[in-house]
Amino acid sequence: MSALFDNTPSRKDTFSFKWQKYKGKDVIPAWVADTEFRCAQPILDAISAHVEHGNMGYILPAHHEGAINAVCRWLNDKHNWQIEPEWLVWTPGVVPAFNVAIKATCEEGDKVLIQTPNYPPLLAAPKLNGLERVDIGTVIETTLDSKGAKVERYTLDFDALEREAADPKCKLFILCNPMNPVGSVLTQSELDRIAAICNQHNVTLCSDEIHCDLILEEGKSHIPAGREAALSQNSITLMAASKTFNIAGLGTSFAIIPNRKLRLAFTQAAAGIVPWVTVLGLAATEAAFTLCDDWHQAQIQYLRENRDRVVEVINSIDGLRMLKADATFLAWVDASGLGVENVLTWAEEKGVGPSPGVDFHKADHFRINFGCSRAMLDTILARLSGS
Ligand SMILES: Cc1ncc(COP(=O)(O)O)c(C=O)c1O
Repeated sequence: MSALFDNTPSRKDTFSFKWQKYKGKDVIPAWVADTEFRCAQPILDAISAHVEHGNMGYILPAHHEGAINAVCRWLNDKHNWQIEPEWLVWTPGVVPAFNVAIKATCEEGDKVLIQTPNYPPLLAAPKLNGLERVDIGTVIETTLDSKGAKVERYTLDFDALEREAADPKCKLFILCNPMNPVGSVLTQSELDRIAAICNQHNVTLCSDEIHCDLILEEGKSHIPAGREAALSQNSITLMAASKTFNIAGLGTSFAIIPNRKLRLAFTQAAAGIVPWVTVLGLAATEAAFTLCDDWHQAQIQYLRENRDRVVEVINSIDGLRMLKADATFLAWVDASGLGVENVLTWAEEKGVGPSPGVDFHKADHFRINFGCSRAMLDTILARLSGS
């Protein structure tokens, strides 16, 4: 199946966000979080069928049984989460969804807790809504594996979360799980701790789980926030097929909100501002979540091998260091050891364009997207190694 991922369509001259930045330059783009892969054939067929039908008029997302059943099936089979169809609210992207979550849960003068480093639009969201952001840092935790070897992993600074959540002005905690950019997946005990803190201080949890179907580490699994009994009535879980199936350009995602009052507040906050999702996005999501299980597994395997290659090569370069990410196709690289003023410039001069860490609030890091063919990845790594 690796031919599916080895052979990628050229995105030059397609107005791709990722490729446009370095157009005409000998710099390989490795920044925006979409993959280079061609979509699974059932997704393309579903879109083609709708195009063939020929009518692109309004449709009712809330009545689109095919896509709704597909989401329910996927969550049941892949995440052991049995949801009621009415808990689902379609949103034309996770970014609008977490901004709507802020509007739905906060009033003027409130504060929003956000883990850092994090995805830039998430960091920007509180201010966009006239609110104060309170940063909860990420720390490196060290444990020993079954053979006694040291294992390092990024996790939340729980002491900071406990301290800051106690401020009655903090009404919402926006979490990213699996974490972007650091790639960790929260464990059961970590999620329990988050639930206890949120419940004790009446803080609603908005959990951005857009990367939840990209768990690369064997033995690890994703726990959706809303599946937890202690969080189901106090949470908004945001998901999409977009990252996993490379359909982000179709702007289709969904929120799962089991609590009726919270769901109503969310839909009211979105009313008149947030458009409905598109018919092609629904068709693609339906196909992704019903007909692409094998493709999904094959991609996980391919990405896992890409990740392992990235970890090995990056950690062999003087001045660079990274921890193995459990999930996502993103590698968070600590470039502080380079001792250079601008780590992005350092990479660009080598012909690679990662996401600058400064955008995630960590200026001496950068993020490399390894959701690409092995050949493209090898060129990226060879350039960074100077080989
Ligand atoms: C954590 C996270 N949330 C949201 C998004 C974007 O979501 P959307 O395109 O659905 O608005 C991204 C894209 O990189 C992301 O990494």
